[in-house]
Amino acid sequence: MYIIIEGIDGAGKSTQIPYLKEWLEEFGLSVELVVEPTDSNVGRLIRKMLKNPDANSENMQKTLGLLFAADRLLLKEQIEKKDNGKKVIISDRSFYSSLVYQNPFEWIKTINKYVKKPDIVILMDIDPKTSLSRIKGEDTFETIDFLTSVREKYLKIANEENFKIIDASNGEKKVTIDIKKAIAPLFGICKDGIFE
Ligand code: TYD
Repeated sequence: MYIIIEGIDGAGKSTQIPYLKEWLEEFGLSVELVVEPTDSNVGRLIRKMLKNPDANSENMQKTLGLLFAADRLLLKEQIEKKDNGKKVIISDRSFYSSLVYQNPFEWIKTINKYVKKPDIVILMDIDPKTSLSRIKGEDTFETIDFLTSVREKYLKIANEENFKIIDASNGEKKVTIDIKKAIAPLFGICKDGIFE
């Protein structure tokens, strides 16, 4: 099972993902977490480049698009092995981040043609003003204008591709419950009172 969690910077993905992992493990499932960009050499290069004020220039966006796609391809084999081994993989970001953060859209789709298809995508939706108040906002992409356009693109794709959309501006506890409720049907978890 391959679960993807998406959302703009500061949406709370890295807070919520460990809760989801712990909860699924209570049902005896074996869960593995992955994060994009990864800690491969390519992923480390990406993180360095994201600190560069030029990261949002047209040329740099394309370069990053290629690097994200390469980093993802390196990750693919690992994910497939684990998935075949009956593990649940929860990924913090994915190919969809490239679709909404980088451009042009069709080209990003093309260079990510070989990515693994997820079983479910959860979008943690939040207003950038709220999300940026939660983080330091030091990376180039972490500005209200940029994240506003990223959020709009996320919502459009989410509606087209049937993502589960969670209101990530709610309190931490409520968001955790909403994520569990979205995931539960995948595993046939449907007992009353099990989400608290
Ligand atoms: P990170 O510090 O991990 O942010 P977050 O905790 O919000 O995920 O940095 C990841 C940054 O990389 C984030 O700003 C989104 C961006 N990104 C892309 O632009 N394209 C991509 O394909 C991916 C995976 C991430």
